[in-house]
Amino acid sequence: MNIVVHYNATEHATNDLVILPAFSKSVKVKGKEETQLINTHWPKEVKDNFNAIAASRHYKGNTGEHFILHVGDTTVLLWGMGDKTKLDNEAIRRSAANLFKHVKDHHDEVSFVVDAIVKGNKLPETLEVFAEALHMTGYAYDKYMSKKATNKVKTWYFETKEKKAKAKACDKALETAKIIGDAIAFARDLVNDPPNHLDSVAYAKLIEKDTKNLKRVKYKHLGKPEMTKENMNLFLSVNAASSHDPRLVHLTYTPAKVTKNTKHICFVGKGLTFDTGGLSLKPSTSMVNMKFDMAGSATVYGAFRAAAMLQPNVKMTCILGITDNAVSETATKPDSIVKGRNGMTVEILNTDAEGRLVLADCLDYACDLKPDCIIDSATLTGACLMAFGNEVCGMMGNDPKLTEKIKKSAGAVNEYIWELPIIDEWRKDMKSPIADLKNIGSGGAGTAKAAAFLEYFIKNDISWAHLDIAGVGDSSKHLPYCPPKGASGLMIRTLTHFALNS
Ligand code: BES
Ligand code: ZN
Ligand code: ZN
Repeated sequence: MNIVVHYNATEHATNDLVILPAFSKSVKVKGKEETQLINTHWPKEVKDNFNAIAASRHYKGNTGEHFILHVGDTTVLLWGMGDKTKLDNEAIRRSAANLFKHVKDHHDEVSFVVDAIVKGNKLPETLEVFAEALHMTGYAYDKYMSKKATNKVKTWYFETKEKKAKAKACDKALETAKIIGDAIAFARDLVNDPPNHLDSVAYAKLIEKDTKNLKRVKYKHLGKPEMTKENMNLFLSVNAASSHDPRLVHLTYTPAKVTKNTKHICFVGKGLTFDTGGLSLKPSTSMVNMKFDMAGSATVYGAFRAAAMLQPNVKMTCILGITDNAVSETATKPDSIVKGRNGMTVEILNTDAEGRLVLADCLDYACDLKPDCIIDSATLTGACLMAFGNEVCGMMGNDPKLTEKIKKSAGAVNEYIWELPIIDEWRKDMKSPIADLKNIGSGGAGTAKAAAFLEYFIKNDISWAHLDIAGVGDSSKHLPYCPPKGASGLMIRTLTHFALNS
């Protein structure tokens, strides 16, 4: 679907479908609350036609409420967007998503008259969030379906009275939306891909191929021999039963100009292409959907990809820890004690707490690169899903400056994030009586204890934050721009914003 701005709009870009926003306002009439339609921005001929239809008296412009009429050869859709004073970026995204679903099967061309929803000088920003929502909503995972998802709309016009002089900023906004939308689609595809197709080797190959299209980005990976040399035995212990080689994918983005002041941010992602639980086998109902256990890595890759395409003036590293957690006679046994890359020994009491083992070695490897900060993203704990549902991302870290900055980025793109503490009691709980650490805690606080475990692998006082996306990464059906089932792609926008503002 092409998204185009139609400037200087004295006539409509298409007569197939013209969409005009409508607003509602709550007023007190004789002491009683009443909803009134606000349509002062409509062209006179639309108003006249609308008023001539008796049923139009009932149309109030509430959110999602719509009304169709014909003006000459043009079909006009009046799209309710509710109270205009409450129309923030997120309301625009949600409205755009519902609107797209409403029209996509019926029209070849649609034209949205955008000016009425733009506040002040913010046409580019409005176009960006609107287009971003269209891209996100247009996503469908249909590669294994004989019958493909449909979208009849070939061109989506935004009509504005603004002059062509605004074109540069507006085109950039649409380009940014497309880059972010494509990155989210790419990441969602990776997560939705089934484990019989997306094993560790295939996953790394896809990333290698994709990064060939990214400027200033270098790809390398470590396989089993290199990881053995690096003493990444915690990571390797998770791979012990696998029929696929593990992959530590190491990506770098170097900006055009690097000085000693250039910031370096590092993303790390959990990439479990499938998590059976290992010998601490998951019950069958909990095992279903564990192809999604690589969503943390897909999320950081999505953000890295989008940010790299937008060429920020910051160095970026992206580390993906990729393997499956399988069962065979060579599987790591509970009670095993394994020494990690940083020299600490871990008593593995539950082979289903595997993500932290993979991340532990990846984080230690990342610290050696001496970045200014490390952000990891992982589907780490079922406890996080229990606490925050599919709506909120859990965050923990060792530096309030960093976690506050991430919260600001989340706020800027309207994603939900909530920080949990890491306290000494929980750090202590992760210690083993017979090894330096154990990989599960006792009792509650499963999400933050997992983070307390990870923190032991951060060295040199590097600022670090951990995002537990076990909930938000999946089936975020509360958002009309996310598929009701499958990968959500959430937090990619937060991390992209973070990278672009570092
Ligand atoms: N991948 C799971 C966490 C998970 C569960 C993500 C459900 C999304 C939905 C992780 O590897 C795991 O199994 N964690 C265990 C840890 C426990 C053994 C301490 C869990 O959460 O039950
Ligand atoms: Zn697990
Ligand atoms: Zn897992």
